[in-house]
Amino acid sequence: MTLRRPSALVLCTLALAAALTVATSPSHARPPQRPGADADLVERGRQLFLTGCSSCHGVTGGGVRTRNGQFRGPSLRDAGEASAYYYLTTGRMPLPDPGLPPERKDPAYSPAEIEALVAYVGSLGDGPKVPDVDPDQGNPARGGVLFRQNCAPCHSATGAGGALSYGRSAPTLSESEPLQVGTAVRTGPGQMPRFGRDTLSDAELDSVAAYVRYLRDPDDRGGVALGRIGPIPEGFFVWLVGLGALVAASVWIARRFRDPVSLGSTPGGAGFADPADPLEAAPPGGLRGEGRDGP
Ligand code: HEC
Ligand code: HEC
Repeated sequence: MTLRRPSALVLCTLALAAALTVATSPSHARPPQRPGADADLVERGRQLFLTGCSSCHGVTGGGVRTRNGQFRGPSLRDAGEASAYYYLTTGRMPLPDPGLPPERKDPAYSPAEIEALVAYVGSLGDGPKVPDVDPDQGNPARGGVLFRQNCAPCHSATGAGGALSYGRSAPTLSESEPLQVGTAVRTGPGQMPRFGRDTLSDAELDSVAAYVRYLRDPDDRGGVALGRIGPIPEGFFVWLVGLGALVAASVWIARRFRDPVSLGSTPGGAGFADPADPLEAAPPGGLRGEGRDGP
């Protein structure tokens, strides 16, 4: 008992000191780069770029055209850090072949190399910077509304992705980190539109990122998740299974009541004309002129 108190006091002091260090430490915020450190980073990025990217994007990032006038790789002068961050952290660049669509893979570079490449591509022009995205500041419910308005038409309501025109498709967001959401939204890669601050403010972007994070691990309140493949394929699945059950039930009923006497033998039963009923007995067209004018 006597030992506990001083140790609790020490712990409190340590925690307070740690909190103060974190609060005042400049490395907590985005570090203001020394000009020299920045130049080093850009130079390291340039070296990586020369070996890994220049064959398609040109030695100074201006793009490369093939003989028939098509781009091997577009100019990166206005791509900006944001676009480089998106393409490199989602493994879409470097492309193995200029004709292939960029697809998500494990990144080809380490985080330190990506930082250098991002700095180099950013130094080529004044494209967008990597935005500050903090899903903890966002409101997932508000993000859900914004997501259904702006993103679900392509990525589906569950973020599972879906087909677009020309055989392209919008990818699943099941692996997208908040900064990848932010850079995709602000740059509009491939067939995705760019959303500027006038369409989606920084606070709204935080909310959308919070919702995408929620989609990665939702609580399935409606019951079984069915792989979260989206409402249409899930509906189709239910339809197939439900239809199967109906067919099985009708076969069972037909077997059970195979005795023909039990079906339709009563006078006036469905499908049998009752001669006592004047309407049923009337010849086709025989009622013309009674209710409406004939021709
Ligand atoms: C085999 C050719 C090839 C290589 C190698 C390659 N790229 Fe690309 N890159 C492309 C093509 C093609 C596109 C256009 C993709 C699209 O949108 O369909 C592209 C697009 C990009 C974009 C988006 C441009 C924009 O307007 O926002 C960035 C950024 C980029 N590449 C960075 C890199 C970096 C960094 C490397 C090296 C690590 C690299 N690429 C290697 C062919 C290549
Ligand atoms: C017109 C269809 C369309 C709309 C609308 C759209 N996207 Fe996309 N999105 C795409 C396509 C296509 C890609 C793949 C782009 C590429 O080639 O890299 C993509 C890629 C992404 C990625 C990268 C996925 C990954 O691999 O991690 C994220 C994140 C993303 N979109 C988020 C959003 C958000 C958030 C919204 C709404 C604010 C949105 N998108 C609206 C079509 C769309």
